[in-house]
Amino acid sequence: MTTLLLHLSDVEEARWAETYRAALPGVRVVRRGDAYDPAAVDYIFVWKPKVDAFDGLSGLKAVLSLGAGVDALLRHPNLPKNVPVVRFMDADLTQRMSDYVVANVAMHQRLVTRFKRDQAARRWKQLYPPASWHISVGIMGLGALGQDAIRHLKVSGYQLRGWSRSPKTIEGVETFAGPEQFEAFLAGTDILVNLLPLTPETTGILNYATLSKLRRDGLDGGPVLINAARGGHQKDADIVRALQDGTLAAASLDVFEVEPLPQDSPLWGLDNCYFTPHIAAASSETTGVAYFSKAIRDHEAGLPLPNVIDRERGY
Ligand code: NDP
Ligand code: OXD
Repeated sequence: MTTLLLHLSDVEEARWAETYRAALPGVRVVRRGDAYDPAAVDYIFVWKPKVDAFDGLSGLKAVLSLGAGVDALLRHPNLPKNVPVVRFMDADLTQRMSDYVVANVAMHQRLVTRFKRDQAARRWKQLYPPASWHISVGIMGLGALGQDAIRHLKVSGYQLRGWSRSPKTIEGVETFAGPEQFEAFLAGTDILVNLLPLTPETTGILNYATLSKLRRDGLDGGPVLINAARGGHQKDADIVRALQDGTLAAASLDVFEVEPLPQDSPLWGLDNCYFTPHIAAASSETTGVAYFSKAIRDHEAGLPLPNVIDRERGY
């Protein structure tokens, strides 16, 4: 009998197990505390796996990642080398991320910080925000999430530009690729949106030097950063500095170098920093179980696994 082992931390594993059992009749769904033979486990479904997560799983056919981003999983010291890793991707998660991006882009285009400060000072001062088509939104990462965000932002009329590792052609978007075109991409960007995977190449990319290269005359007060990908992309201290010295007018951050954000982080106290606790696009139990159950059923029927990550590239 096919066996699926669940190994989830910081998530209600029992509920996921129940949902899997209902979705996968004929598959034995087990949790860490259950009695099972590790060598008989075919699939392991993980989120923040502990160091011993893969011990004894000698018959593993795939590692199924609840996270869409696999950076932490790929750093796991005992991740089996020759077993495919399937990452989560689905319409519900993608829509949630686009909702986050659209809401935050619109908020900054409408100069939320400026009017919030006026309100706090009881100051009535009219200033008309620019129309969306005068504002350039630059998306870092043109994968599943970046391209969907672009699709939604297009409807609102923004000028769009995108940056990826390999060259892309996307209608209505000025595209840039590789490190050699990064500065040109930044130089025309008013609102920078990060949707990159975290890899050795992208670690710390949102630093003071990067932020200093954004266009300064598009938005009143200066450019804006929106980071919804990984905290490892950013240097929190550089963002604090940029928010304090005007290099950035504002930032929306869903992720941080250390999560939960330490109590003594200066970011808590900055009125031009809008943050959320890594909730931009949570994976839903219903769609997650549907996605991975189909992957297991298909694979058992001889079909290929979906969205297998490339370990060399790191995403
Ligand atoms: P994809 O793998 O589909 O896309 C990644 C994109 O980034 C690709 O366009 C890729 O380029 C580009 N890229 C990768 N490395 C580089 C580089 N060195 N330089 C320039 N571009 C690069 O990822 P998704 O869109 O599905 O997800 C992106 C990330 O979002 C995830 O890895 C995860 O960390 C994060 N995430 C955050 C969530 C949250 O709640 N905060 C929820 C879900 C995901 P190319 O096209 O050439 O390969
Ligand atoms: C993910 C996340 O990668 O929630 O799915 O950050």
